[in-house]
Amino acid sequence: MKGIVLAGGSGTRLHPITQAVSKQLLPVYDKPMIYYPLSVLLLAGIREILIISTPDDLPNFRQLLGDGSQFGLRLSYAEQAQPNGLAEAFVIGAEFIADDNVALVLGDNIFYGQGFSRVLQGQVATLDGCVLFGYQVKDPSRYGVGEMAKDGRLISIEEKPAAPRSDRAITGLYLYDNNVIDIARGLTPSPRGELEITDVNLAYLREGRASLVDLGRGFAWLDTGTHDSLLEAGQFVQVLEHRQGVRIACLEEIALRMGYITAQECYELGRRLARSPYGEYVMAVAEAAGAGQD
Ligand code: DAU
Repeated sequence: MKGIVLAGGSGTRLHPITQAVSKQLLPVYDKPMIYYPLSVLLLAGIREILIISTPDDLPNFRQLLGDGSQFGLRLSYAEQAQPNGLAEAFVIGAEFIADDNVALVLGDNIFYGQGFSRVLQGQVATLDGCVLFGYQVKDPSRYGVGEMAKDGRLISIEEKPAAPRSDRAITGLYLYDNNVIDIARGLTPSPRGELEITDVNLAYLREGRASLVDLGRGFAWLDTGTHDSLLEAGQFVQVLEHRQGVRIACLEEIALRMGYITAQECYELGRRLARSPYGEYVMAVAEAAGAGQD
């Protein structure tokens, strides 16, 4: 399976912070926001990843992440000229996806929870049609909303409904088979002028090939869309990291644990981070995995 991180948009709700910097490069405590969705793809076992952003912001993502080989990944980059909707990712990424399945993750979504990696890898391995991930929220009308029947079947999907049929938000992580390219190409823009991801999901639902995996209440799916939620996401990460002494969405550590890089390679990555606490953590993780210090 291939992966796409969609990291465009204009970030207007965070102005003036995002007037000169991409939203997905803003810090969420100790690392750039895009590390969090990227870590989701790594944990799913996906190593070929396309990053889509605006023409202005793309050079900064390249500078941060390069070709991904330092993490044992293959990263490529593509422009989205205008924020024409989430589903445009599959039109822009059609050549990259080729005849593979694909996971899309929004560059501003943060997921955290025990066993997530296992859940992801299981869904990737058994994918048939499309898999969505649901999360209970207090304010579902801000999101795509999924309704499940008593037997767990997904029966309706609505985008930002005024009167939601359930409290299950559809998160910004989506797994699709290769039909998604044709479905996205066949969409017409919604009244707000966008190619809607919800219309893609509805096409799968109509064929009876869409399922929703509930992430459960022990899980964290965090928003970064407003000044408050961005700060709260950073505080959440800070609290957990301080309490446990482990770092969330540390790409170097995940690449090591997934077997994408060696302990020695991981150590070198840490050393390059100029002895920031993050870099020291990466070196310590690498040492614990057997890296030498020469
Ligand atoms: O976060 C999950 C939600 O994401 C889902 O529940 C909704 O169904 C889905 O439509 C989407 O809703 P949002 O209102 O959050 O979408 P938004 O337009 O804010 O875009 C989400 C991110 O994607 C944001 O960081 C900007 C980026 N983006 C957005 C558009 C429309 C792009 O990179 N390109 C785009 O064309």
